[in-house]
Amino acid sequence: MIRDLTDAEARAALPLKWGRAPEGTIPAWVAEMDYAPAPAISAAVNAAAGRGMLGYPPFDHPMVGGLEEAFRGFAERHWGWEVPAGSTTLTGDVITGMRLVLEHLCPPGPVVVPLPCYPPFRTIVALAGREAAYVELDPDAQTATLDLAAVRAHFEAGARTLLLCSPHNPWGRVLTRPELEAVRDLAAEFGARVVADEIHAPLVLPGSTFVPYLSVDPDGIVVTSHTKSFNTPGLKAAQIITLRPDDTEAIRSIPFEANHGYTGLGMVAGAAAWRDSDLWLLTLRQRLDVLREDLADLLATHLPQARMRPLEATYLAWLDLRAYGVADPAAAGLDHGVMAAAGHDYHPGLEGHLRLNIATSADRLAEIVRRLGVALA
Ligand SMILES: Cc1ncc(COP(=O)(O)O)c(C=O)c1O
Repeated sequence: MIRDLTDAEARAALPLKWGRAPEGTIPAWVAEMDYAPAPAISAAVNAAAGRGMLGYPPFDHPMVGGLEEAFRGFAERHWGWEVPAGSTTLTGDVITGMRLVLEHLCPPGPVVVPLPCYPPFRTIVALAGREAAYVELDPDAQTATLDLAAVRAHFEAGARTLLLCSPHNPWGRVLTRPELEAVRDLAAEFGARVVADEIHAPLVLPGSTFVPYLSVDPDGIVVTSHTKSFNTPGLKAAQIITLRPDDTEAIRSIPFEANHGYTGLGMVAGAAAWRDSDLWLLTLRQRLDVLREDLADLLATHLPQARMRPLEATYLAWLDLRAYGVADPAAAGLDHGVMAAAGHDYHPGLEGHLRLNIATSADRLAEIVRRLGVALA
């Protein structure tokens, strides 16, 4: 059910991921998958385009195609979470939504950003005119967890917002209920806001359980979208989810000119993803489960000194390659026909790491790791 794209198909379908890679280089950087879209999404988008549904979406936060309804059903079926009706506000994409939330819902003061982080987190904090207060993950820690003592120290120094990524890219971790409760309690102590990016939530792999942040902390704010799990990032329709009426009112009062990036086709795609694509998603997670095992075997063969914590969610593996003594393994990989993401983009100053996108065919993954092995030998 998960169909691998050929190289030619991938070049046509994924112009950013594949277009940036020189001929002969295998791209394994940006978070897109080398798979054909879920059939229900293609069918819904094709039908909508066939009907000529290419106009502006209405202004007043409509749920065209039942996007919110579909998400509520998904959250109930997959996570047992009852999302109240009327808690979704549309925005173009998750990164825009996070920035708008920072600008309009979060108290003044520095913003705590755990590192390594998805690089745009740092950019949006700057765009929102805020100072970032970093909490660094010890690269030698057995388990990637949030250093709450460091978060507390930032709150004591005046920070009032925490950007959480749950499940975490690039840690690959699924934060547990006790961890989320501890975050909630700490934020409550300081009157701080927690903004959770849950875009990878449907990509929790067998063995781990996703806990929606808002099911633990109704004062939190979640931004999510169908686009990562269903490989639809070109179809813009992300969701800001707020349970506090004052938040919902404030976020919906943002002038249209500042929040206009969502599209009708994105809403159609989102509804088809959340409502009609469970089987495809299940099959995807089974495929990724096999690929993460393949990755462990391939690393043992070609990069035996690589270190990797268990990949609990996402298809983005965070590899510690410091044992090879190469400061920028992604640059070395590029010289040998693999385009991975440089670790220092996720954690400035951190050497010897890279983030590898494994959502490709088993053959390509094997070739990627073999080439990286040659690059670092
Ligand atoms: C954690 C995280 N948030 C947000 C995004 C981007 O989402 P969007 O394209 O909706 O801005 C990504 C993309 O890889 C991501 O990994």
